[in-house]
Amino acid sequence: MSATIPTAPALYPPTVPPAARALPLYLSLTRFVRNPLRSLPRTVYEQPIVAYGRKRPLVAWVTGPELIEQILIKRTDVFVKTRLDKRVLRPLIGTGLLTADGDHWRWQRKLASPLFRPNDAYGYVPAMTTAANEQIARWRSLGPSHTAAIDRDMTETTFAVITRTILAGIDANEAVEIQRTGHAYIEPIMWSVAAALMLTPERWWYPGKRKMMRAAREGRAVVQRLLDKRRASGIEGDDLVARMLQARNPDTGAPMSDEALIDNLATFLLAGHETTAKALTWTLYLLARAPEWQDLVRNEVLSVAGRRAVTADDIAKLPITQRVLKESMRLYPPVPAMTRVNAEATELGGIVLP
Ligand code: HEM
Repeated sequence: MSATIPTAPALYPPTVPPAARALPLYLSLTRFVRNPLRSLPRTVYEQPIVAYGRKRPLVAWVTGPELIEQILIKRTDVFVKTRLDKRVLRPLIGTGLLTADGDHWRWQRKLASPLFRPNDAYGYVPAMTTAANEQIARWRSLGPSHTAAIDRDMTETTFAVITRTILAGIDANEAVEIQRTGHAYIEPIMWSVAAALMLTPERWWYPGKRKMMRAAREGRAVVQRLLDKRRASGIEGDDLVARMLQARNPDTGAPMSDEALIDNLATFLLAGHETTAKALTWTLYLLARAPEWQDLVRNEVLSVAGRRAVTADDIAKLPITQRVLKESMRLYPPVPAMTRVNAEATELGGIVLP
């Protein structure tokens, strides 16, 4: 299949344009909670770095790829994880891989990395095509006039993938509970982000807080049961649970504590399916609005795989499909922003950050 893309209409842009200029705090916050991308002034989309603050920059929005590379890859000693992410996510995922720093991050990362090497990840493709086919069969059984909740269906599909690959051995009841508590935690999360951004004391109330905290307690309790069951049945296999149960801290030789195990299982359950579900949901939404692109994707897949399931070897031969997914994530990013704080005064893109 040639990588040349024929002339076809562009994917539709997000329906909500960014704000034209910086908004007053109260307006910015209400917009932020409903749709964070809508609270950003247009300059953030146009310039590689935009800094705010009365006398000195307090917050800088960085969108330039070279500057992002500085922050995330080249100068990680200066730009470290913030309290914001930890505060928002800690009740559910503690200090697992996503929220950990320093040595605690390093050894957890080393442990999980082999599961994400390209060759290992390609081994998950059959589980992905099976989950996709099961979802298609469910839709077909409902008939053509049925209205489907795509977001919910994609969450179910990606959950099926994660629980058949890196987190095997979850039964149907546990799966329902984990999905329910994960969703209950995520739903009001923008309020929690807004509270953290305003630096309110952690004990203060915000809409949905009680629901989030209950979801975190219940979710972690299910993960604990999962762990107990796995221990009782013997630690077989090479999935994430087995790897973590067998792991020893390189410095102390100690196994992972139960708390650290739960932190990481909850991290992977949450990070590993809500994100991909959102990416697929928006992609299907955009494709539904752009039938020309539906045809391009469909014809590409048919020309490469025909009626058989797509395999790992096919992926490189699907440039249009890959670009559609990337464009969808550019327009509707499942994780629209990441935060870092500079641990010391520094300069970035010509701006001095105290
Ligand atoms: C479209 C899909 C995905 C998106 C958009 C996404 C987005 C992100 C982002 C932005 C970060 C960096 C956060 C930060 O450092 O501040 C991250 C980290 C992470 N993601 Fe994902 N992710 C996706 C899929 C997945 C999947 C499928 C898994 C697991 C199977 C996963 C597990 C993780 C973990 C464990 C981290 C922390 C890594 C570390 O700090 O070393 N993500 N993800």
